[in-house]
Amino acid sequence: MNVLAIETSCDETSIAIVRFNGDQYEVLSHITRTQIEVHQEYGGVYPTLAKREHARNLTPILELTLKEANLLHKTKSNITNKKQQLEELLTREPETFDAITQLLSQIERPNIDAIAVTQGPGLEPALWVGINFAKALSIVWNIPVIPTNHMEGHLLSVLVDEEQGSLAYKKLHFPALGLLISGGHTEIILIKELGSYEKIGVTRDDAVGEAFDKVARLLDLPYPGGPEIAKIATQGTENEKVTLPRPMLGSNDYDFSFSGLKTAVRYLVQELDELDNQTRADVAREFQNAVTDVLVAKTRRAIEEYDIKTLIIGGGVAANTQIRQAFVELLDREYSDVNLLLPASEVTGDNALMIAVAGYLNLQTGATGDLEFSADGNLSL
Ligand code: KG4
Ligand code: ZN
Repeated sequence: MNVLAIETSCDETSIAIVRFNGDQYEVLSHITRTQIEVHQEYGGVYPTLAKREHARNLTPILELTLKEANLLHKTKSNITNKKQQLEELLTREPETFDAITQLLSQIERPNIDAIAVTQGPGLEPALWVGINFAKALSIVWNIPVIPTNHMEGHLLSVLVDEEQGSLAYKKLHFPALGLLISGGHTEIILIKELGSYEKIGVTRDDAVGEAFDKVARLLDLPYPGGPEIAKIATQGTENEKVTLPRPMLGSNDYDFSFSGLKTAVRYLVQELDELDNQTRADVAREFQNAVTDVLVAKTRRAIEEYDIKTLIIGGGVAANTQIRQAFVELLDREYSDVNLLLPASEVTGDNALMIAVAGYLNLQTGATGDLEFSADGNLSL
């Protein structure tokens, strides 16, 4: 079956078309357009702008993905009888209405069986753009829409195995543990089986990625801060004037707190009389070390407690080389029977391929595709 997936929860507009057959899959096309430049001057994601950019980008990206998947066939399609429904659906998005009705009236109904779309969590105005767009396609093409959880997408992103062209179920042994580290979330999820998730730990304040972004700002580095900090941290050295706390390292739970760490960086930067390049690199290094130490300690604790067989790390921060390496070493050293599943670099950040995978699994477990669903900024696993 062919699944078209749409992701607009934050600052990436992404569409994927994936052909699934049992465990086998083939990515027919996958296009992600980032809005980083639009948000950079605000030092973070600005929801109204994100919404506008998604609305502008979706139709052209849809056209490109259909073309790349060889599913774009130009012909006059009569959609007059659907126009009123579309107009009601997109009443607050006239720009989207114009663009999508124009495209859909010029192309043949493509060979797509279902649409998966991110329902949440994320920025609600941004989520709505993708959801309404998905519903519009569903109305015109008469196919189901599967609302999909963005965090489940990040978890299942590790099943994407480009070399094999099959979903890596065989590497997934239960109970599994998911460490989700992104710009909006930091969670530890206990996975007893596919689709059965229990959140056992969360951040009490900032998410890890958010802490990277805020600390980057304190160090005059651009948004998004994670890759920037990672880059300069490699130049950092041991510096006795640069030490930071490891918040909640020894606490008797699986929760995190990163806002105090960020505040500690602020004070540290104020205390240091001069923030030359070397000192900045030293701060970045110590910050990254502190984050890594806490993530490893909490995850290790959960591996022990729940007798974990597979560790999944997902989300944008899973791109961080040092954090990845720390987990490779932890498992090598102490838990050689635990499988480590890390996302391929193309699926660490926000992307529609992971939404296609999550949507496909939901379809297999009985999701039916009812159009009556809303964006949910706080949707939880
Ligand atoms: O999953 P994601 O793309 O979007 C959300 O769902 O939040 O994660 C984005 C976050 C940003 O905070 C960004 O700074 C962080 O991931 N990030 C990194 C790295 N690459 C991206 N953090 C640390 N090291 C990296 N290499
Ligand atoms: Zn994400």
